[in-house]
Amino acid sequence: MAFTRLATIVSLALGAITVNAGLVRRVTCANGKTTTNAVCCPLFDAVDFLQTNLFDGSECGEEAHSALRLTFHDAIGFSIHGGKGGGADGSILAFNSTELQFHANGGIDDIIAGQFPVFQTLSQQIGISPGDFVHLAGAVGTANCPGAPRLEFMFGRPPPVAPAPDLTIPEPTDNVTSILARFADAGFSPEEAIALLSSHTIAAADVVDTTIPGTPFDSTVGTFDSQVFLEVLLKGTLFPGNGSQPGEVLSPIAGEMRLQSDFVLSQDPRTACFWQAMVNNQERMTTQFKAAMAKLQTLGQNTKNLVDCSDVVPVPASFAGPITFPASFSMADVQIACPQEAFPMLATVAGPAPTVAPVPGS
Ligand code: HEM
Ligand SMILES: *[C@@H]1O[C@H](CO)[C@@H](O)[C@H](O)[C@H]1NC(C)=O
Ligand SMILES: *[C@@H]1O[C@H](CO)[C@@H](O)[C@H](O)[C@H]1NC(C)=O
Ligand SMILES: *[C@@H]1O[C@H](CO)[C@@H](O)[C@H](O)[C@H]1NC(C)=O
Repeated sequence: MAFTRLATIVSLALGAITVNAGLVRRVTCANGKTTTNAVCCPLFDAVDFLQTNLFDGSECGEEAHSALRLTFHDAIGFSIHGGKGGGADGSILAFNSTELQFHANGGIDDIIAGQFPVFQTLSQQIGISPGDFVHLAGAVGTANCPGAPRLEFMFGRPPPVAPAPDLTIPEPTDNVTSILARFADAGFSPEEAIALLSSHTIAAADVVDTTIPGTPFDSTVGTFDSQVFLEVLLKGTLFPGNGSQPGEVLSPIAGEMRLQSDFVLSQDPRTACFWQAMVNNQERMTTQFKAAMAKLQTLGQNTKNLVDCSDVVPVPASFAGPITFPASFSMADVQIACPQEAFPMLATVAGPAPTVAPVPGS
């Protein structure tokens, strides 16, 4: 009873009306949007503000991609055994002068510079914390990419207390044993690690080879499809820029970059079947990615103290599929590393081998 009264008072204070629709309590905010908790109401305008001021009006472009990468680099410094970083706490934004010195954070400077003034404005307007900002921006940026799952957003992270320590973010030069060990230390299984790497379907590299900024990891960098899981398996024949760089291995397509870490994970017996199972399986990929991201986005947080504000996250456009072999490629080019499972039958796009264009604004 006391709780109901309190909830009513809070709702009135925020200009929100609470109604019971079946079992799920809904509130209607002053701006007409509905959500499950009145404290989420100010976030609808914050999302609009992000779309306009960070994502060039709901684009799945450079800033959206980088906002997703930032959620990983913010959160992964955590250890389930303690003694490392605060997890998904926004420390990468608040302590940027420390964390941007880490080698693994190469290329992160642009998105920090892009997010900081937007964060400051929203911090003044609605008191959003650095952690809530980083993980809301990641969810909204991802939602701008067709095919992506609608990521969760939990609200109420306290301010970060310290920067994460160095050498906690995997590097593309790392071997499978050390990558899986680092993920395990942060609480992720090998299957969850591969699920998180679905992110590389909307990803490009600026600093692996600095002569070719914005070089994508797959031929459909603006779509959250399973194309990256296919293309990493195709026989490599070329380097897209200035020869071989650390963390880079031969790519199958002009204008496309293949990370050494993605390739070794696709070939290793500990992860190859998880990798292959994602190919042309949009449902598996988006379901597993969403679940693993929900863990990542709240690493180190006591979720009992957070409010589920997922319904402020925009609903992504769908991706119809199926995926295809890029023109000139076929089953004969696939480096199968999970022979015990059937490889999906895929059509080949007509025409000559493509050249992938760089992501604009990189
Ligand atoms: C083994 C683990 C991982 C390694 C070694 C790795 C490595 C990299 C590297 C080297 C880049 C290119 C950076 C540049 O040159 O600008 C990159 C980009 C990216 N990564 Fe990862 N990554 C890993 C896991 C993840 C995870 C778990 C996520 C998110 C959940 C993620 C999201 C992204 C995104 C979205 C980009 C593209 C950023 C952009 O286009 O601006 N990565 N990653
Ligand atoms: C880094 O954070 C400080 C506040 O700690 C801020 O003044 C600065 O603008 C940030 N740097 C960038 C590149 O945004
Ligand atoms: C993997 O890398 C770590 C750290 O550099 C190294 O100690 C280890 O020997 C490597 N393992 C293999 C199998 O190469
Ligand atoms: C090209 O790569 C080589 C070897 O990694 C490096 O020494 C050289 O500086 C690079 N050139 C440019 C223009 O970045």
